[in-house]
Amino acid sequence: MKEKDIVIRFAQTSLEEMSAADRHLVEEAREATRRSLATYSKFHVGAAILMDNGEIVSGANQENAAYSSGTCAERSACFYASAKFPGVPMRKIAIAAWTRLHVAEDTPWEECFQALPISPCGACRQALLEYESMYGQIEVILYGRDKVYVFPSVASLLPLCFSEF
Ligand code: THU
Repeated sequence: MKEKDIVIRFAQTSLEEMSAADRHLVEEAREATRRSLATYSKFHVGAAILMDNGEIVSGANQENAAYSSGTCAERSACFYASAKFPGVPMRKIAIAAWTRLHVAEDTPWEECFQALPISPCGACRQALLEYESMYGQIEVILYGRDKVYVFPSVASLLPLCFSEF
């Protein structure tokens, strides 16, 4: 028997260090959080996808009284993107999230964003992977107020992923 390691490589950066185009995509993800329907969790997530045709498609989490009927921001964005622009590759996705649960009620909106990035749940990684497998790498930009993480691809976030059978 042999022990093996899986190493996930990613870049830690900041808004200041990023290109104007990437900063804009993050801004779109932050703005998308305003369209979140977070009735139950009060956790507002936004995702913005840069398409190969230059369009940006965004989505936000949408919750439902039957909890499992709701969906995350990332899936709402990638399903909408594929439905709106079928066959167009997705190049980058930026994700941002905030909540007022752990701060004073009058805390300004900008300061309610998570200090450290949140990263997509397993189901969203799997959903995004499908588009990556069809059209090529999708860079993943995870926004946090203090740190921004950049992953080169969805597959890099989902080692030993299930993609072919
Ligand atoms: N959520 C997302 O939209 N994206 C993530 O990456 C993690 C979680 C949503 C699902 C639910 O509406 C709320 O955040 C709390 O889990």
